[in-house]
Amino acid sequence: MEIIKNLYWVGVLDFPERDFHNFATHRGLTYNSYLILDEKITLIDGVKHKFAREQIKKIENYTNPKEIEYLVVNHIEPDHSSGLPEIVKIANPTVVCTKKAKEGLEKYYNADWNFKVVRSGEEIKIGENTLRFIETPMLHWPDSMMTYMVEKQILFSMDGFGQHIASEERFDDELEDAVYWAKVYYANILMPYANLVLRLIKLFEKYEVNPKIIAPSHGIIWRNPNKIVKEYVKWANFESDEKAVVIYDTMWHSTERLAMAIADGIASTGVKVRIFNVRKDEWADIVTEVLDAKAVCIGAPTMHNHVFPPMAGFLTYLKGLRPKNKIGLAFCSYGWGSGAYEDIVGVMNDLKWEVIDGIQVQFRPTDEELKKAYEIGVEIGNKVKEDS
Ligand code: FEO
Repeated sequence: MEIIKNLYWVGVLDFPERDFHNFATHRGLTYNSYLILDEKITLIDGVKHKFAREQIKKIENYTNPKEIEYLVVNHIEPDHSSGLPEIVKIANPTVVCTKKAKEGLEKYYNADWNFKVVRSGEEIKIGENTLRFIETPMLHWPDSMMTYMVEKQILFSMDGFGQHIASEERFDDELEDAVYWAKVYYANILMPYANLVLRLIKLFEKYEVNPKIIAPSHGIIWRNPNKIVKEYVKWANFESDEKAVVIYDTMWHSTERLAMAIADGIASTGVKVRIFNVRKDEWADIVTEVLDAKAVCIGAPTMHNHVFPPMAGFLTYLKGLRPKNKIGLAFCSYGWGSGAYEDIVGVMNDLKWEVIDGIQVQFRPTDEELKKAYEIGVEIGNKVKEDS
């Protein structure tokens, strides 16, 4: 698949895969890799090991893989690097990567490869084209970098700007919901590094990166880079919509009743509300809605003096993703001793959210308690409107 003259997509589509280390991938995955035919034939990134043969066959459509002189490794996570030993075996290329990537590849693959370690701003001339490297540590691993094809203004952005979706479409203007899939990816992979995303925009200025095309390692290629860069800035600033999410789990439907009453109260104010059950909905979908919600209401029962275990798992995931600038509300039920409420509020405090007084009920919420839950929902809705 030609992207521009002498630049080919040689990645693979993994339509059946539905899991990326517990991130639900409803429409599969893509592992993008790019082949540049220049005086020194260059391959940018690799694919997952089980697709290595498929990738090599694709490369054979354009060149003899033995002719690859440079292999640029922007990131070492195994979804991109586990197929690389096959390429190295065939071509014995110069492997261009960061210092951390070299250390990681040696550890993962016992790699005694011909490494060339690069720093931000360094360039390699591969013929007509120049490749400039920009280190992007913790976006999203310490080894990560991006590669800019200077003359053609193409940025190989690794996981940044990617999406977990397998599609026959290769470009953003061909896939209607490309921004949505990029949002799901951002929320689940990059949200904890929002400050670094904002710094990345400054790095682009510093290293004169002005892409006409952004080619990530997952999903479609952005022929309209501004479309996604603009969204990244919005997400990294945690700009929110007039929206609340209600996230709950329940044992005997008591917490669920509170959840519905709170959601009804929020909706009565005209604020958009989304409701999720942590055992029935995918966590990847829930945190995608959390990303741009102003209020996050979380409810669960108490079990053994702590929050119900499935919610404990979700809270661990949420806390790690570090969503910011939220109004938080906890709602809980218990039998004879509380614990869930404190656990939920504890996470909200750790995340430095503005926590509103919530509600706890014993056994089953009474009509009075359901009325109170509804009123709390109204309070949340009004607050969202004020703050938006
Ligand atoms: Fe797509 Fe961080 O690997």
